[in-house]
Amino acid sequence: MTPLTPVITAHWDVPDYFTLEGYKRHDGYRALPKALAMDPDSIIAQVKDTGLRGRGGAGFPTGLKWSFVPQNDGKPHYLVVNADESEPGACKDVPIMMANPHALLEGVIISSYAIRAHHTFIYIRGEVPQAIRRVASAVREAEQAGLIGDNIQGSGYNLRVTVHSGAGAYICGEETALLDSLEGRRGQPRLKPPFPATHGLYADPTVVNNVETIANIPWIVNNGVEWFRQFGTEKSPGFKVFAVSGHVNRPGIYEAPLGITMRELLDYAGGVRGGDGTVKFWIPGGSSVPMLTADHLDTPLTYEAMAEAGTMLGTGTPMVFNSTISVVKAVTRWLEFYKHESCGKCTPCREGTYWITGVLDRFEHGAGTDPDMKLLEDLCANITGRSFCALGDAAATPYPAAMKYFRDEFEAATHTPVDETYPSAASYLFTELAPR
Ligand SMILES: Cc1cc2nc3c(=O)[nH]c(=O)nc-3n(C[C@H](O)[C@H](O)[C@H](O)COP(=O)(O)O)c2cc1C
Ligand code: SF4
Repeated sequence: MTPLTPVITAHWDVPDYFTLEGYKRHDGYRALPKALAMDPDSIIAQVKDTGLRGRGGAGFPTGLKWSFVPQNDGKPHYLVVNADESEPGACKDVPIMMANPHALLEGVIISSYAIRAHHTFIYIRGEVPQAIRRVASAVREAEQAGLIGDNIQGSGYNLRVTVHSGAGAYICGEETALLDSLEGRRGQPRLKPPFPATHGLYADPTVVNNVETIANIPWIVNNGVEWFRQFGTEKSPGFKVFAVSGHVNRPGIYEAPLGITMRELLDYAGGVRGGDGTVKFWIPGGSSVPMLTADHLDTPLTYEAMAEAGTMLGTGTPMVFNSTISVVKAVTRWLEFYKHESCGKCTPCREGTYWITGVLDRFEHGAGTDPDMKLLEDLCANITGRSFCALGDAAATPYPAAMKYFRDEFEAATHTPVDETYPSAASYLFTELAPR
């Protein structure tokens, strides 16, 4: 079995690891002087060479993203840490912030130095005040110790860190909506291009990175490229904080090399809980990625293998569902989430999520019809690739994936007599939309 490789999580059992003293006792802030003695460009090159890919879901190469920031352009640069973590199933950044806030801060200081930023914002989901307090108090400790502020460790480098609380909108995890929210506007995505690397916060060059991505940086600077690349695969190097949830006996955080399989993670998590003890379906990383089945338990959890299997690694936070779960119900719950979180800026997502949930509701009540299945397919196809941001695409994901593997469950929820409560799909929607 692939062994777990605790790096970020190595000392989570140390009771005071979240304090400056606890973190320092376990090699904390050892990478910082090393980084400050380096040329910023060589840190960017090092991160590029590791092949580290963003852990926020899209898997974009981190060093490459940093290299897009125009250097020495005389403009203010910003690093923004995306700690909004709101996707159903995703629960890795909050534990990192709770257990390891100083690793995040050490990563913040080094990354900011590398991209020549002097002000970093950490945007934390408003519904987790304990994480906000934990990170804010770590910032205070670091300021008092001269690790954040002016002339850090005599290097001449100055950095301010601001902890900002979001208000709990999933869309504010989308990097440009996050930037608008941070600027005090309603959190809605911006048109891209231009990308944040050139026109980000306050229209200045900005890097937006996920908490886990940034928390990797101190270990990379300390141990180097070869060390990092010993984990994972050529295209998915490194280790990953996998958060396993759902019907497993020991849900939790398992840090392992990329390439571990779901079957192995499932073993670590104590196997399937409830039902007949088998996996009915599972999702590799948050509800935005297509579901897989027990047939895929041996597929390596890498960006490339997941893509080949028709899904995505996403946030690497697998959710496991046992034999008792209705696929129709699960898909309906996810769509209700997307409908609720749709920011309303573009029509395909705003209207589409409304229509899809309306039709799915009929299936949930055993009153779908054959044409409804086609209608759902059309609705999803009209959202995919036509919405303004990836939330729309994500909303159009669960139904087609469910139909691929569990068409029979939708069929079983049709053919029931259609009564007045559930007229045909179109008339149902028009009735709903009609002025009263
Ligand atoms: C609707 C939506 C929500 C998102 N939520 C998050 C989030 O909570 N945290 C996160 O890091 N990235 C989130 N992302 C991805 C970000 O837009 C962005 O890709 C990421 O922060 C980049 O960081 P990384 O390169 O380190 O992964 C979200 C994207 C979308 C479309
Ligand atoms: S896809 Fe949805 S969340 Fe994204 S801009 Fe359009 S309405 Fe807003």
